Amino acid sequence: MSTHNVWTHKGTFLLAAVGSAVGLGNLWRFPYLTGENGGGAFILVYALTIFAVGIPILIAETMLGRASRRSPIMGMRFLTRTHQASRAWESIGWLGAASAFLILSFYSVIAGWAIHYTWLMLTGSLVGADAATIGAGFDVLLASPGLLTLYHTLFIIASGLIVGMGIHKGIENGLRIMMPALFVILLVVLAYSIANGDFAAAASFLFTFNLADLSLEGWLQAMGQSFFTLSLGMGAIMAYGAYMASDASLSRTAFAVAFVDTAVAMVAGLAIFSLVFGAGLDAGAGPGLMFVTLPLAFAEMPFGGLIGGVFFILVLGAAISSSISLIEPVAAFLVERFDLTRPQAVFVMVVASWALGLLTVISFNTWAEGSPFHALFGRSAFDFIELLTNIFMPLGGMLIALFAGWALTHSEVMKEMRTGETWFQVWRFLVRFVAPAAVAFVFLRTIPQVEGYLIPTLGALIIVGAFAASRTFLAGNRQEQ
Ligand code: TRP
Repeated sequence: MSTHNVWTHKGTFLLAAVGSAVGLGNLWRFPYLTGENGGGAFILVYALTIFAVGIPILIAETMLGRASRRSPIMGMRFLTRTHQASRAWESIGWLGAASAFLILSFYSVIAGWAIHYTWLMLTGSLVGADAATIGAGFDVLLASPGLLTLYHTLFIIASGLIVGMGIHKGIENGLRIMMPALFVILLVVLAYSIANGDFAAAASFLFTFNLADLSLEGWLQAMGQSFFTLSLGMGAIMAYGAYMASDASLSRTAFAVAFVDTAVAMVAGLAIFSLVFGAGLDAGAGPGLMFVTLPLAFAEMPFGGLIGGVFFILVLGAAISSSISLIEPVAAFLVERFDLTRPQAVFVMVVASWALGLLTVISFNTWAEGSPFHALFGRSAFDFIELLTNIFMPLGGMLIALFAGWALTHSEVMKEMRTGETWFQVWRFLVRFVAPAAVAFVFLRTIPQVEGYLIPTLGALIIVGAFAASRTFLAGNRQEQ
């Protein structure tokens, strides 16, 4: 059964995809990566991979959603049938659902920290506090399973309610209020940071072109980031694409999403580093940048409590608009496959993901380093889940590129793309060769981090994928003659 829902407005897909793309990855990860990897040089590589890998896969993933008008799993089943392709391609849908489920479980816990900091900021608890106090406060938060679970629960319930209300009343209406508000807040924070911080230092930190700082590692991180930040390879974009108006342009929309996403990341980076440098602090890294260094900068500035609170509301909003896109693909599948009502489907997905999230909660305390779990797997449950998604995400993206590039018929793709022959050829070359090769490259980098038993699994998956690709390629060619 297909639901055949379509967004109310032609532009809603763009709004929803931007909501999914703009998240913790933009506000926290991108600024830090850019600073660490040579500023301008990193941004150059990032822009290049967004163009050569990110945008082509974004187009492909949206296309698969719109061509099937179903949830990712049922959609891939439908497409393999209508294109006489191997059913192995269905793995794209399953991988996506699995990643969405895994990511939601920890994304919600981390986003929950922002609830804590919104509260601390707005009540003025941190005003005038020193580094030791703020650092200790963060440690106390992480050491408390109760508090972490409370925030995790609140965040996931809020996300679930929005998706539970349906794609029009819940997701569309929610985004139409939330997204403009987020952009206004971002500009307010930017203006505040220019007035109170060291904007020049931030700009030179981010944009100084220093090729020497850019290692192979930096290239790979730029690729990984372009993937993560566009929410690719996990069904979120495919699920939203299923509701996209037939006459909206795939290419133009994908470019717009990538542009807005990148602009938000850069503005956030400028604002955050202006504040951090203005307060004479170190750029630092990891969770500390957003949850220790930045609160410290706010603590020392005029109206820091208020603007800091507003900033963490921005973080929360950006995270919610991303997390709803993680719930949607799985919920839509449960509705289609098991005939559940939407609220029931959302409930199942959210409760299961919430329960898995408890593993992330205790990764910071009860099951932290020194626990039996740590001893057994050599990492925390949180790191383990994150590692899994770091494998599933690129794998999903690579399969999406291969499927759209090789298995879909020329006529189907042309019908979806409705674009000039030149751009069509460029896009097809990018999804057929460049994107898969780039992702394979990122993989080779991930593998050394992976425990021995996972490598054979991965290898097998890739071989199965390649086999399926070659078979469908042949089938596709036969069909077109
Ligand atoms: N793009 C999100 C961010 O930048 C994170 C993310 C990655 C995501 N994959 C996703 C969000 C899938 C929703 C769905 O923070």
